[in-house]
Amino acid sequence: MTPVLAIDGPGGAGKGTVSKRLAESLGWHLLDSGALYRLVGVAARKRDVEFSNDAPLSDIARNLDVEFRIVEGGELVQTWLDGEPVDHLLRTETAGSDASVVAAIPAVRDALLQRQRDFAHPPGLVADGRDMGTVVFPEADLKVFLTASAEERAQRRYKQLKEQGLSANLRALREELEARDRRDSERATAPLKPAPDAWVFDTTGVGIDQVVAMIRERLEGVLSSRGSA
Ligand code: DC
Repeated sequence: MTPVLAIDGPGGAGKGTVSKRLAESLGWHLLDSGALYRLVGVAARKRDVEFSNDAPLSDIARNLDVEFRIVEGGELVQTWLDGEPVDHLLRTETAGSDASVVAAIPAVRDALLQRQRDFAHPPGLVADGRDMGTVVFPEADLKVFLTASAEERAQRRYKQLKEQGLSANLRALREELEARDRRDSERATAPLKPAPDAWVFDTTGVGIDQVVAMIRERLEGVLSSRGSA
């Protein structure tokens, strides 16, 4: 069985950066499940499909023609949809909130389930999302629920956008983040919540290097106790 590290939590908690760093340092594969939901939203907009229309949205999810291309000597992953690069469309606030809307549709989640499980290949997988530990990989070796206060998450996102030279409004970001948290937590299917056996890690005031190191240490403990069991 391929070892799986599940990292769930609300938006802006640092899951993306932490998951990427852990996957790189472990030499494991990475599943950015949020990107799949974002892609469904982007494809729906490209095809003028309304977000209230479940059947065509689940068709889009089932047939996503997506490719993650590794470029610049492995440094960068580019996302291609229907033969076109779409990274510039994926990381916007609109793509995030569209993703959260389509992600509430059970048929869309169903359509993406096996595709996500197929990412689990040796030597291991770091899976980043909202329901990695609860639904997609319930047998994950370690489940981390990464969180931080809404204020700190909004601040982190603000800083990220500014560093990319994009304009941002802290209050609007916080409101959007809280609306997304509510939608993700209150939906009926696979809501955002920690698995009963997850380690809930509040990273408010904890630097990213320390977060990565603490998860790595815990994972090594779990893997070595499994190895000797
Ligand atoms: O992690 P992210 O910001 O890229 O995710 C975008 C949205 O996709 C998020 O608000 C909810 C949805 N999502 C989900 O429902 N389940 C996942 N496993 C990952 C993301």
